[in-house]
Formats: sequence, structure tokens, C-alpha cells
Amino acid sequence: MHKTPRAPAMAAAVVGHSGTGKTEAILRALGTYQNQIISHESFPNIVGPHHQVVYLSVDTPASGRASDLATNLMRSWDMVMSKHFPERPERFASTLAKERRDGAKMLDEWRHVATSHFLGLLHLDEVQNFFQLQSLEKRRKRTDKTEGLQLSIVEDYCLKWILTLTNTWQTPLLVSGTPDGIGALTKRLSNTERFVSSGYHVLPLFEDAQDKFFYDMFFTSLVNYQYVKTRLPATPEFAELIIELSGGIPRLIIALWIAAHRVAFERKEDDLRLEDFKHAAATYMAPIAPAVAALRSKEPERMARYEDLIPRDDGYWATFWTSVSSI
Ligand SMILES: Nc1ncnc2c1ncn2[C@@H]1O[C@H](COP(=O)(O)OP(=O)(O)O)[C@@H](O)[C@H]1O
Ligand SMILES: [Mg+2]
Repeated sequence: MHKTPRAPAMAAAVVGHSGTGKTEAILRALGTYQNQIISHESFPNIVGPHHQVVYLSVDTPASGRASDLATNLMRSWDMVMSKHFPERPERFASTLAKERRDGAKMLDEWRHVATSHFLGLLHLDEVQNFFQLQSLEKRRKRTDKTEGLQLSIVEDYCLKWILTLTNTWQTPLLVSGTPDGIGALTKRLSNTERFVSSGYHVLPLFEDAQDKFFYDMFFTSLVNYQYVKTRLPATPEFAELIIELSGGIPRLIIALWIAAHRVAFERKEDDLRLEDFKHAAATYMAPIAPAVAALRSKEPERMARYEDLIPRDDGYWATFWTSVSSI
């Protein structure tokens, strides 16, 4: 009997420190598809119209557990579907309503639905959550400083399931996460098959203020967003200060930018000054100073601690401004 050769599994990774813009870049790229669901009036081997889900982007849960991952997958599936078909009942409502949740069963149920809708791409964000990262305290105590991070996996089942999804079910996968998380994931999966076959994209942080990409693309655009009458000109000195105070992490650059405006708004003169950035870094941004210092040190060992020092939780950033408004 003739057997169709199986295409190699497709998986790609995006890696970068927290706040370098991974999620933003991926969602913008996926957003260039006109529709998240394509409705085919007819489809081979299917009676009636067929609705294909082009992509689905899901966060790996903080717990790293199978039941929480399956819950996220199901919720996000239902959300996308109900946006397009608000009159339809949610596919996973009854499973999600159950008191006791069996992670393995749920992952299987979701996979069945996703593959039968020919899901084009599954994006799993924050994959470092599959691993229990060592606490800062433990890392400090580590005697062998040359060895990479020891990461212990929370639930092996999730990784096996991901492998089956890409290998057996041929669902293209995009994973994104921090360098230690992606490192642990690829190391863990490399024995079985070459895991990341479709691209390994590193989002670096901006280290050099004169770097073309930072200066010409990011900085010169950013200076247009000054909400004062007398603006600061785009100078190498200004660019240098921003890199110095933010460690070159886009999320911190934007936070610093907003904080400097706050400082400026507190005086009568309608202008923005370099001192405002320094003042903002010393006040509003003070909790982040140790993380920035770790990055600026350029010592790999200290830089590796950045992820411990920076708040990763998006909720932190959402409440950042209200919580520090009393400063
Ligand atoms: N291309 C960009 N242009 C401007 N700001 C950006 C860009 N990418 C990221 N940012 C800023 O950085 C923040 C963090 O980006 P995000 O994608 O959430 O980072 P990550 O997923 O790597 O932690 C965004 O909310 C935004 O303020
Ligand atoms: Mg992110």
C-alpha cells in the first residue's frame, strides 16, 4: 500500500528577555492575517461549510500544569469562535464548567477540535512557565557559576503532548519565552527530534545607543511622542541616557518615557528635559533599578538574574502607574 511520507514537524521559537517585545511582535505579525477564521463553503471530506482557525495565541499558565494549559487553550478557542459566531454555543463550556479537571483528557479533547478545524498555527507564549525556575536565593547559593541554569519541569505530560501535537498531528507550533525557558525547552526536546526546525528568532536588547536599529528605527520614532511644547531634540546624548536608564529593554524604555513626562508635567514650563528622565528613573522606576543594573553590568552571570529581578507579570505593569502615583 502506498504511504504518504509525513512532512517534518514545524516548530519555531522566539526568544528574548522579558520586555523585549516578543508578544507584541508575534501578535502584530499574526494580526496581518485578514481573518483569524477562514470559512470555506465546501471542504474535502467535510459535509457543509468548514471553519478553519488560522492561528491561536495562548499563554502557558504560571503553574505549568496540564489542566491549566488545557483551560487556557479551551477558553481562547471559545473566545475566538464566539467573536465570529456569537450565536453559537461555546464548544468547551461544559468541560470548563466541571469541578474536577483532568488535564490529559482536556488536552486531548482540545487537540481533537483544533486538528479537525485545521488550526494553522498554535502560539504558546511564556513557555518558561513549563519549568520551575530556581529561586533567586538558590541561584545565589549556586557554587558552580559556569554551569547553566538547572530547570526542573513542572509536568512532563505537557511537553510530551506538545511533541505529539507537532509530530503526529502536524500542527505548526510557535513558542516564545525567556532565554532560560526556551533553552530548557529545546534542550529537553532535542533528544527526540530536532525541535525548532522553522526558525529561531532572538530579540536582542538594545545595548548600543548608536546602533542603527535602535537609533534610526526606534529612537528617532520615539522622540516624536513628546507631549510638550518645547521638545527635546534627538541627540546621541539623549539616546545614550535612555539606554543607560532602561538597560535597553523596550518595555522599560516606554515606562521611562511615560514617567519622564509625569515629571515634566509637574512644573509650569511646558518642556521636557534630560533631567526629567534621570529623576523618573530615581523615583517612579526605582523598583526596577536592580534589574537595569544587572543588564548594564554585561556580566553573563549578573545578566541571568535579570529575569528574577524584573516583574514578569503583565498585571504589575498594568497597575504600575496607579501604584506609584503617590511618589
Ligand atoms: N516594536 C515596538 N515598538 C514600541 N514599543 C514596543 C515594541 N515592542 C514592544 N514594545 C513595548 O514593550 C512592551 C513589552 O512588549 P512585550 O511584547 O509584552 O514584551 P515580551 O513579550 O518580550 O515580554 C510593550 O507593551 C510596548 O510598550
Ligand atoms: Mg510577553
